[in-house]
Amino acid sequence: MTSLEGRLDDLLREDRAFPPPETFRESAHVTDDRPRESAESDPVAYWERWAGELHWFRRWDTVLIWEPPHARWFDGGRLNAAFNCLDRHVDGGKGGKTALIWEGEPGDTRRYTYAELRDEVARFGQALLDLGVRRGDRVAIYLPMIPEAAIAMLACARIGAPHSVIFGGFSPDSLADRINDASARVLVTADGGYRRGGLVPLKANADAAVASCPTIEHVVVVAREGRPAEPNNVAMAPGRDVWYHDLVARVGAGCEAVPMEAEDLLFILYTSGTTGKPKGVVHTTGGYLTQVYATTRWVFDLKEEDVYWCTADVGWITGHSYIVYGPLANGATILMYEGAPDHPDRGRFWELCEKYGVTIFYTAPTAIRAFMKWGEEWPAGSDLTRLRLLGTVGEPINPEAWIWYHRNIGGGRCPIVDTWWQTETGAIMITPLPGATDARPGSATLPFPGIEAAILDDSGSEVDAGYLAITLPWPSMLRTVYGDDARYRDTYWSKWDGVYFAGDGAKRGADGYFWVLGRVDDVLNVAGHRIGTMEVESALVDHGAVAEAAVVGRVHEVKGEAIAAFVTLKEGRKGSAQLEIELRAHVATKIGPIARPEEVIFAADLPKTRSGKIMRRLLRDIADGKALGDTTTLADPAVVETLKERYSGQEG
Ligand code: WT7
Repeated sequence: MTSLEGRLDDLLREDRAFPPPETFRESAHVTDDRPRESAESDPVAYWERWAGELHWFRRWDTVLIWEPPHARWFDGGRLNAAFNCLDRHVDGGKGGKTALIWEGEPGDTRRYTYAELRDEVARFGQALLDLGVRRGDRVAIYLPMIPEAAIAMLACARIGAPHSVIFGGFSPDSLADRINDASARVLVTADGGYRRGGLVPLKANADAAVASCPTIEHVVVVAREGRPAEPNNVAMAPGRDVWYHDLVARVGAGCEAVPMEAEDLLFILYTSGTTGKPKGVVHTTGGYLTQVYATTRWVFDLKEEDVYWCTADVGWITGHSYIVYGPLANGATILMYEGAPDHPDRGRFWELCEKYGVTIFYTAPTAIRAFMKWGEEWPAGSDLTRLRLLGTVGEPINPEAWIWYHRNIGGGRCPIVDTWWQTETGAIMITPLPGATDARPGSATLPFPGIEAAILDDSGSEVDAGYLAITLPWPSMLRTVYGDDARYRDTYWSKWDGVYFAGDGAKRGADGYFWVLGRVDDVLNVAGHRIGTMEVESALVDHGAVAEAAVVGRVHEVKGEAIAAFVTLKEGRKGSAQLEIELRAHVATKIGPIARPEEVIFAADLPKTRSGKIMRRLLRDIADGKALGDTTTLADPAVVETLKERYSGQEG
């Protein structure tokens, strides 16, 4: 808890409040606390009203069946997520409105109206059917940030095939694990995607992965590089691999959306936990769509004329809920950008905001800290006056970064919504409503209407500082862990009776505001990405030189947390700068570059309790260069002293 305590001290000194600006409030969807109060008196009726704004082929019989820890929302109802994101708007006369503006890193652009996007999704839905994909079959998607990523997701939703999107930065091993866990039949990938001027070899990674994926029958390849007529020179396995453009050229746009049960699986998304094996978080259709629809509308105060940009990757839950499903269910115009924020220079994001007239901008604190480091001259070089609302997600935002964002990106006039939620919650849970809630830098403020949160201690009593808990079921909650319901119960529902354990530490102010402090389990948050310490440890001991590894997070100025790996070597192996590079690369190859340790510290021994448990708290303190706490439970206190000396020597 050491770094949490440090953060707590900082936050206790934070007393600035930012009420909604009057000009913003004048036209905001929500301007006071009444919706919160009315939702509180009857949350189920409240969510039912939101669901009623979507299109249903058949209305539900029961809003909520709650048999802890399993919930069924809108039971008996039938709907289709893609229909709600596309056809509903086309049928309603908005077919000519721009749905998606896309810019590739090299500067190429594409635009789709709602009618065009509907047709392209219908074509790819038909192509998947032609490949033999049936309702309920899983489809894996491993794509760069190109329109086909959203198209493939919606095409799956249209035909009732759950998708599993795997972030393009994951290694072949990570990709294969996820494909196999879900027994996916088809993989959709591309010949590459641009990142900092270079092409990420997604198809080559996919080939390496699929070699150990017996359930994959076809690999669909989008030609990102060369023009469709002359696709990039990648190896295509005859009979297995097919070009996306060949598939969609053969079919019409007649594929209709299948009415799905509200509780049918919409997607699986893998996320790290406290064991070495990522969890397949399961989201279903009706409740998920209802809550992403509602939160996108109110949290981002979304209006007809907005140009909305969420900078996340579709490989993460933020991309699912707030690039694809939430904004499109609202009929919004979204911007999608393929590449890095510093390519060709550090002004790229701000040029995009100016060029497309972005009005709502949603990003992560780690990105904001990078912008701060790069300097305010970059945003100052573009006209950002169209922006009217800013958001953050992914980790606690330090007040300094909040203030910088407010001033340099928001021009002092844009409210900031600090949104707390998780892959498991599916949608935003704790957040300001920008026209109603006073913001406080570093606080996600209050639960969204219809959500009930609390801070509890181990025994389940309410406390000022403790564990963040969700005390009522909510529509977009995960339904289970794919193929492992015991893990679902264990991880989230075993601490208290019928109450959800989020894995975060939090504190509550006298005004009821929530201040999320960070993870309390062995999960790291590196640059807004969740990484399990056990996954990195397994990747390290997979290397021939390593006997034992213990991974901790240490404070990092931009990434929030950086990975420090303490490693003991096998007999006869010696630590060296060369081996450190090799081990870091090994982890990047095994998991993906996001998991590459910042540093490897070679140790003769790791500090353990008498029962043999590695004392991570001590390792964190060593990595953070802090004074060491209580070491009396250590089996051999001398281990720590040598480690500390060695570490401070190695650092310089
Ligand atoms: C974890 C969830 C939700 C989409 C992106 C991350 C941390 C997220 C906040 C916030 C403080 C936050 C928590 C949470 N987190 N948003 N606004 N303030 N912490 O999704 O990978 O599932 O990670 O991110 O620790 O548990 P994820």
